[in-house]
Amino acid sequence: MWAGRFSGKPDKLMQEFSQSVSFDQRLWKEDIQGSLAYAAELQRIGILSEKELADIRGGFETITKEIESGKFEWKVELEDVHMNIESRLTELIGDAGKKLHTGRSRNDQVATDFKLWCHFRTEELHGAVRDLMTSLHARAEDSVDVIIPAYTHLQRAMPVRMAHHLLAYFSMLAHDENFLDEISRWDTKFDLPLGSGACSGNSFPVDTKNLFMGVFESTARNSMEAVSNRDFALNLVFGCSKIMSHLSRISEDLILWSTSEFGFVTLGDAVTTGSSIMPQKRNPDACELIRGKTGRVVGHLMALFTTLKGLPMTYNRDLQEDKEAVFDATDQTLACLRVMALVFSNENFQVNRERIQQQLDSGLGYMEAMNVADWLVLQGVPFRDGHDITGRLVKYVESKGMRFADLTAEDLKAVDERLKPELLNELSLEALVERKQVYAGTARKQVEARLKELKDWLGNEKD
Ligand code: ARG
Repeated sequence: MWAGRFSGKPDKLMQEFSQSVSFDQRLWKEDIQGSLAYAAELQRIGILSEKELADIRGGFETITKEIESGKFEWKVELEDVHMNIESRLTELIGDAGKKLHTGRSRNDQVATDFKLWCHFRTEELHGAVRDLMTSLHARAEDSVDVIIPAYTHLQRAMPVRMAHHLLAYFSMLAHDENFLDEISRWDTKFDLPLGSGACSGNSFPVDTKNLFMGVFESTARNSMEAVSNRDFALNLVFGCSKIMSHLSRISEDLILWSTSEFGFVTLGDAVTTGSSIMPQKRNPDACELIRGKTGRVVGHLMALFTTLKGLPMTYNRDLQEDKEAVFDATDQTLACLRVMALVFSNENFQVNRERIQQQLDSGLGYMEAMNVADWLVLQGVPFRDGHDITGRLVKYVESKGMRFADLTAEDLKAVDERLKPELLNELSLEALVERKQVYAGTARKQVEARLKELKDWLGNEKD
């Protein structure tokens, strides 16, 4: 492509070092899409004839078939996806192929291809987040009746409905979905780089509005920024990192829940593995891998930031290093979203209701105590005094090695006169769950109302 100015060839080692075609061939569809739009504009302004445009279109059809059937010969010596495709086009149709790059540079070309690719990938991620939310919603519907401990500091804190816990995951993912929407609304659809040339614009009278390809909604305002900006890639990898950190937290809960110590759930054969030495084992590998891959994806975010931070204006070859980070971050995140949806399928997410009840019946953690403090407040005792009386009751129960469920009227009286026998009817965990009647609370009415709202919302969004 640039042999004219050079007398020697690149060293083999350098060729291998500098090539990107082994990974950027993933941009082939976007590259062809951009080139077709650009060719049509070159024809409109008289650089290409009608016949040449038709030849280019025909050439790209052939190339598409070759790539799709695996027959296309990717050549390392042609460095990247852009030069491989252009060179094949010229091989197929001759001079018209050589005219295609008029006014364009690989710098505005790669920025355009990559932005388009990120746009489509964002949509794919959006769909996968949505599918996981749908599975979570279904499992939440199944578990409104199941009461489990909620933890703070990983100590039993308050009883909640398992549905409420699962809807917490749903909410985390809803924020992720919003962020992906923001990326496509404000980022990947904006500031089309094509037309910015190498860094200073296009010398020919192209109208960039004709290059929007049904995706872009505005043209870059500054050619220098346009060819060197990769914020859209950063945002996408940040979005992936955020999704992964959520999936990792969910994984951690499920790993704990499926231990013998908790035993709240059993994960199905399809998402667990056995041990090569211990026949009794069922390991939550799907969740562990998701948790493990989170480090890898967040690592890509750091890598990308570090690549970008010291670049002088404008395009620098360092930018070729942006792609693998984005490709791998999005591949891993998509895979993890899909595997997590499988974990939350009806077959693979088995809730062990009896085991959970046994755990609650142990009385450990004294979650009933909050009932006492609340009840005292309703009797007119200031909350701080109620807190103190309840604290003394917990101490009493603990020192006697008993459970709240074993308390008698005499026990209450022994701790404080204000603890009347009627309190004994208020001590159930269910009563405590039902007391949380606020919008975001655990009362059945509220949880069912949230489920209904979210179901409508899931349904509407699909249309
Ligand atoms: N493969 C290159 C990249 O990904 C394409 C742009 C090359 N531009 C250049 N001036 N060498 O960044």
